[in-house]
Amino acid sequence: MRSLKWLAPISSQTKSKLRFIDQTRLPLEETYIETDSCEVVAKAIRKMSIRGAPALGVAAAYGVALAAFQYSGKEKEDFLNSVLGAIKLLKSTRPTAVNLFWSLERMMAVLNSNIEYGIDFAIKKIEEEAIIIHEEDIRMCDSIGKNGATLINDSTTILTHCNTGALATGGDGTAQNVIVTAHRQGKKIKVYADETRPLLQGARLTMWELTNLGIDATLITDSTATFLMQQKKIDVVITGADRITLSGYIANKIGTYNIAVAAKFHKIPFFVAAPTSTIDLNLKIGSEIIIEERNPSEVTETLGRRIAPYNVKVFSPAFDITPPELVSAIITEKEILYPPYETSIQQMFASK
Ligand code: MRU
Repeated sequence: MRSLKWLAPISSQTKSKLRFIDQTRLPLEETYIETDSCEVVAKAIRKMSIRGAPALGVAAAYGVALAAFQYSGKEKEDFLNSVLGAIKLLKSTRPTAVNLFWSLERMMAVLNSNIEYGIDFAIKKIEEEAIIIHEEDIRMCDSIGKNGATLINDSTTILTHCNTGALATGGDGTAQNVIVTAHRQGKKIKVYADETRPLLQGARLTMWELTNLGIDATLITDSTATFLMQQKKIDVVITGADRITLSGYIANKIGTYNIAVAAKFHKIPFFVAAPTSTIDLNLKIGSEIIIEERNPSEVTETLGRRIAPYNVKVFSPAFDITPPELVSAIITEKEILYPPYETSIQQMFASK
């Protein structure tokens, strides 16, 4: 399953399109949307039809390509402004996952360095770059799966949070692909998946993916995780990340920090799996990361039904920050990083 697919034109009469699965409708409906509009992609990211840090990067790159194709004028200057406007729009969709900004910076660099050769040439290069970003993401998922699986022994029970599978990436997933790879290697794996309030990515998306893949998975409420640790039923925790700072602070789905604290208390390894594109070398400590706050209605309503009194105050951060001292290792597509992260992260980038 691919959450994102670039559809090249089938004739000169048709346009390039992006096809994506609408994650808000899962697991009850498997609906795919095809669009040739950058605005539709931006809206889909905002309402989380497309979500998960690596998927945001890939979708945003394709959004820029769609904006380039959408331009119908002849002036280089207008074209440049129109595509830069699209990049600005895409940057405004969600603030925390750095992959979105990383990919848009790459698209902007390709735009700026090719516009002098004409609009058609720049469009071709922009489309090529988006496809390259997607292909890199697919390879990155495979490598994370293989690297991470070396940390998983036979007969391991894993706790995971949110959704880090194919839906959250352009390929087969990050943390979840570690689980899937270990399973495919014949290791006996059991998974507990947190439901992940308030938008239920664990219940709706992770359980959908893991059961489709034939992996032994059990859904739990978020507050059950620590009880299972106390009962010695969890061997390892693996989560993804939306942004990792130079010194190893991890921004990930709200509730990740709770799990990391509890894992430390119970002496359970806490692994984070994420591509190097999730590492933000410009930030050092966690408090520098912008945490997205979501619409209160996502807490006061569940699946369209009101669950809290009207006019209540709500605080709904989408992510939290786990400090490096709680993280046993960071699994990337290049290597597995160990503390102290400031050193291991810099060494990895230096040896690139
Ligand atoms: O708000 P979401 O659903 O986009 O949050 C996703 C997560 O927190 C994931 O753990 C993270 O993006 C890694 S996805 C491979």
